[in-house]
Amino acid sequence: MEYDWSSLDELRTTYLEGTAGKGDYWASDELLRGYDVTFARRIAWKWHHVFRDLARLGWTPPAGAVYDWGCGTGVAVREFLTAYPEAGLKAVALHDRSRRAVNFAVSAVRREFPDVTITTGEPEGPFTLLISHVVTELPEAALAELLKLASRAAAILWVEPGTSLASAKLVKAREILKAVFHPVAPCLHRHGCGLLAAGHEHDWCHFFATPPPEVYTDRDWRQFGKIMGIDLRSLPLSYLVLDRRVPAEPVPGAVRILGKHRLYKGHALLDACDATGVNERRFTKRTAPAYFRAMTKGKTNTLQQWTLEGNEITSLTEPGGSAPPGETLPYPEE
Ligand SMILES: C[S@@+](CC[C@H](N)C(=O)[O-])C[C@H]1O[C@@H](n2cnc3c(N)ncnc32)[C@H](O)[C@@H]1O
Repeated sequence: MEYDWSSLDELRTTYLEGTAGKGDYWASDELLRGYDVTFARRIAWKWHHVFRDLARLGWTPPAGAVYDWGCGTGVAVREFLTAYPEAGLKAVALHDRSRRAVNFAVSAVRREFPDVTITTGEPEGPFTLLISHVVTELPEAALAELLKLASRAAAILWVEPGTSLASAKLVKAREILKAVFHPVAPCLHRHGCGLLAAGHEHDWCHFFATPPPEVYTDRDWRQFGKIMGIDLRSLPLSYLVLDRRVPAEPVPGAVRILGKHRLYKGHALLDACDATGVNERRFTKRTAPAYFRAMTKGKTNTLQQWTLEGNEITSLTEPGGSAPPGETLPYPEE
């Protein structure tokens, strides 16, 4: 890859310092091109994590347009159209404060999906709203406007970095939007968010996507990781999917595991979210040794189905039907 590394590095510094909200930083098409094959690919892998989760939950997109707000290079909508080829989605709407970014995204969508109609701004009629890695760039007033727009959507898919700041903003948005929408994922209930309860001030709702194996072998990715000082293995995300349609009831005992397990000798502690709140549970290795090992390698899903005795997990499986390609469900016992 031959890209303007110093501009990409400056962009990353802007994101890290939290100054990206100050003004349009898309100074050139070259910067957008470089972003699209680097940072945006990493964002695409987070979207893939969300799509896999939604597949387990049996979610499919509602009819209507797909509106990518704060589109940048349009990675979210391009991945969305790729993930749901059967949905017959033929209308895309794009918005970004940067005209240059919108133009880039229009060309990219047109190139990859020539049959799709592209408009800019809020679409007429029902739409699915995609928001990707924008929330930390928005002042309060802009976020309030975005929430008003969101309340007009048929469904909302919102993916952000897995930081405590981004998670807190999503939790707040959920509390407002659940008056109109049903939470679909990661939440398995529509009560108040369990993280708002006392004792969870230092917890946040985040998960880890899995990058494809080429990040470890590909020379360009290694160079990118080195220049940017990024650990390519780590892809933390926060996300929120809301829908006006009533989702399927979660299976009895369904829980969502937040963040990373805490590993001790012979057992792990997990933060599990369900309608009762966010609770710490204990998973002893001898309960399910193969699954325990898979979990410590980061190979288990965040959606699980447990039986409990007190805080101790006594059995566990992964609900959601057939596994996506490359994954094995449920993990066989030794
Ligand atoms: C980190 S980029 C993410 C781009 C794209 N959604 C993605 O996931 O790759 C944030 C985008 O939000 C846009 N943005 C920031 N503030 C905005 C605002 N107030 N209104 C519209 N777009 C905004 C920026 O121009 C930029 O394209």
